[in-house]
Amino acid sequence: MPDGVNLSIQIGNLTLQNPVMVASGTFGYGVEYAQLLDLNRLGAVVVKGICLKPVRGNPTPRTVEVTSGLINAIGLQGPGVGGFKQKYWPFLKTLKVPTIINIWGTTVEEYAEVARRFDALGGVGALELNVSCPNIKEGGAQFGTDLKLLAQVVAASRKATKLPLITKMSPNVVSITPYARVAEEAGSDALAVTNSYPAMAIDIETRKPRLANVTGGLTGPCIKPIAVKLVWEAAQAVKIPIIGMGGIQNAADAIEFLMAGATAVAVGTANFYEPQTALQVIAGLCEFMRKTNLDDIRQITGSVQITK
Ligand SMILES: Cc1cc2nc3c(=O)[nH]c(=O)nc-3n(C[C@H](O)[C@H](O)[C@H](O)COP(=O)(O)O)c2cc1C
Repeated sequence: MPDGVNLSIQIGNLTLQNPVMVASGTFGYGVEYAQLLDLNRLGAVVVKGICLKPVRGNPTPRTVEVTSGLINAIGLQGPGVGGFKQKYWPFLKTLKVPTIINIWGTTVEEYAEVARRFDALGGVGALELNVSCPNIKEGGAQFGTDLKLLAQVVAASRKATKLPLITKMSPNVVSITPYARVAEEAGSDALAVTNSYPAMAIDIETRKPRLANVTGGLTGPCIKPIAVKLVWEAAQAVKIPIIGMGGIQNAADAIEFLMAGATAVAVGTANFYEPQTALQVIAGLCEFMRKTNLDDIRQITGSVQITK
């Protein structure tokens, strides 16, 4: 317990020493950041999305900065389950903090198979289902924006593993409420809210899209207020914990997500320009708790006061 405050939280049967993790796709496979911060001080390391086979991803340019944000169309580049086990797991399994593996597939069966293989690996902290990636043509978006497919993909993954299962929600829906409920009913232990927002940027000199893929996913500070609202709505709909993310740059941002109903938070785009952000958020949470006489981080969750 640092400074007499209890920061620990639960995701299913997994205990995290603090509620601050890093968001999938913004932290590589942990090893890339090992020289830049002490990974063992994080709540958890969440790795880039992995499917069965290696994926090359989209042509470049794959990222473009926009006002207060970033649009990316990486195209889920990754080493596949086999490549991950060989190249990254030997390092990750030495960490004292849990590794959460973000997984995806192009069919319900593929999600289940990937979940089964990581279950068999032994030592993984939790699995996060990416059902909401807007960057690929098959799979991705349709799972997270179709209630029936969402139920199928969560239920099939649930059957395939005993590991805590986090469903990473798509923001690209009219209301998150039914999707949050379906993910909970199908067996999720937690929800991650939210993934990136579909977006596009154009170079007016060349009249060309700034991304080779034309469109991509918008992240960073510009999405924070919409993400906070989604967390608040999801928190009204389900009993399972919510991991809030979208534009977190400091402890104040993280506290907003917690007050809206999140149990934990993830730092994403900010890792690219300030790799220490997650550690700064942890320190800032402790300071806020001391200042406001709180001794348990869970006292902040859902504490927004709404009088209508
Ligand atoms: C370059 C990049 C790659 C990403 N890759 C993934 C991914 O593989 N799987 C996933 O579920 N989310 C992925 N995300 C989404 C983030 O995990 C996170 O949900 C989103 O960036 C919102 O948080 P932020 O605004 O703090 O970045 C990616 C985001 C970025 C910027």
